Amino acid sequence: MEIIKVGVLGVGRGQSFIAGLTPDVGMELVAICDTWEERLNTVGEKHPSVSTYTDYDEFLKHDMDAVVLANFFHEHAPFAIKALKAGKHVMSETSCNGTMAEGVELCRAVEESGKIYMLAENYPYSKFNQEMRRVYQTGEIGEVTYAEGEYNDPMPVHDRVAISAGINHWRNWIPSTYYCTHALAPLMYITDTMPVKINGFSIAMPENEAMTARRSDPGSVIVCRMDNGAVFRIFGLVLPGHSNWYRVHGKRGAMEIGRAPGYFGDGKVRVWHDPWDLKEGEEENRVYDPEWPENAELANKAGHGGGDFWTNFHFSNAIRSGEQPFLDVYRGVAMSSVGILAWRSALEDGTPLDLPDFRDEASRKAFEDDHWGPWPTDDGPGEAPPSILGFTEPTEEGLANSRKIWDDLGYKGE
Ligand SMILES: NC(=O)c1ccc[n+]([C@@H]2O[C@H](COP(=O)([O-])OP(=O)(O)OC[C@H]3O[C@@H](n4cnc5c(N)ncnc54)[C@H](O)[C@@H]3O)[C@@H](O)[C@H]2O)c1
Repeated sequence: MEIIKVGVLGVGRGQSFIAGLTPDVGMELVAICDTWEERLNTVGEKHPSVSTYTDYDEFLKHDMDAVVLANFFHEHAPFAIKALKAGKHVMSETSCNGTMAEGVELCRAVEESGKIYMLAENYPYSKFNQEMRRVYQTGEIGEVTYAEGEYNDPMPVHDRVAISAGINHWRNWIPSTYYCTHALAPLMYITDTMPVKINGFSIAMPENEAMTARRSDPGSVIVCRMDNGAVFRIFGLVLPGHSNWYRVHGKRGAMEIGRAPGYFGDGKVRVWHDPWDLKEGEEENRVYDPEWPENAELANKAGHGGGDFWTNFHFSNAIRSGEQPFLDVYRGVAMSSVGILAWRSALEDGTPLDLPDFRDEASRKAFEDDHWGPWPTDDGPGEAPPSILGFTEPTEEGLANSRKIWDDLGYKGE
């Protein structure tokens, strides 16, 4: 098995990939790139055989087969397109595209390059979500009619500020609907359905952000109509009360993971049927600890409940086989675009909006010039506010507290 040489852009979250790109998944880390030199050098010192770059164009010239993009949340698409054009396979952190136009451009770039593109969504690959996909595929609960996905991950003020260094850092501006893929991707993976229509609702709570530099709302609910007619409810993002949880109803039963304290609840899977609907040999209600389908030892060592192992594993396998992975550009761009359109909908308190079929040039073409977004770097006429309350400003205390924390981190920017 020839080792795949990989470079990583962004050494915050990128460090999880740096740790996981090993011969266990047939990969080797050869280069890292970050403009934050202090951070880059600290990570580089731990990996003396790996080349370090502060310039992405120079980094792309390094002898490598693939790049992993863990740079700013809303800036992945231009970097992915450059890498594809340079002949590299790409695995990108969420979100794939910061605007609808970028989504269209990215799909076209992948098609033209013939390279592998994968969204590095790790939540579908937790043990219980892989098990729910397996059960779903047996047909035991029938075709999905309704599903719920929740990724609501609050943290203490200090920790939230520490991961958002800079007044214009993406975490301080990101609208509440944009980070929807941790909640939505597992449901799409379990049921193999695609979103076609979106309603978004945002929940503002400025007092929660008073000691931070955040301008955006902490919570949202997105309602997605799926391509088989099912309805999915997606909930997040940092409202008080942690929840990472999934439930799927089908035409003859349902399944969910156990609600309980802990990051992933109790991690158990529950499958149930109504008593009048039981087939011979089926149980009315069963609750059990799921098993990994394979590679248990490697998955148990990896972050995010093992999910971080599986993204590398599937990316590596896709490159070797030449076949696009399940989390391909079309699914990645569709779920990223759910967050964008849900924000447009939320600003009108829930107007329904159609999502294009990104596999179809005629359908996606309507969005090729749609550069609408909330990011301050794209400031211009029609720019979207980051909150349903409008263009809110951080409080003086929040800014002072944030600057102190950023200073302690060695952050030198604004
Ligand atoms: N899947 C998960 O579980 C998970 C967890 C955390 C973060 N993420 C995702 O990973 C991505 C990064 O998150 P993060 O928390 O590390 O964010 P971050 O903002 O802390 O880190 C991004 C890094 O990229 C660097 N960078 C940005 N632009 C650059 C450029 N042009 N050239 C070189 N370096 C550049 C920044 O200096 C920074 O160090 C985001 O998309 C986030 O959503 C995913």
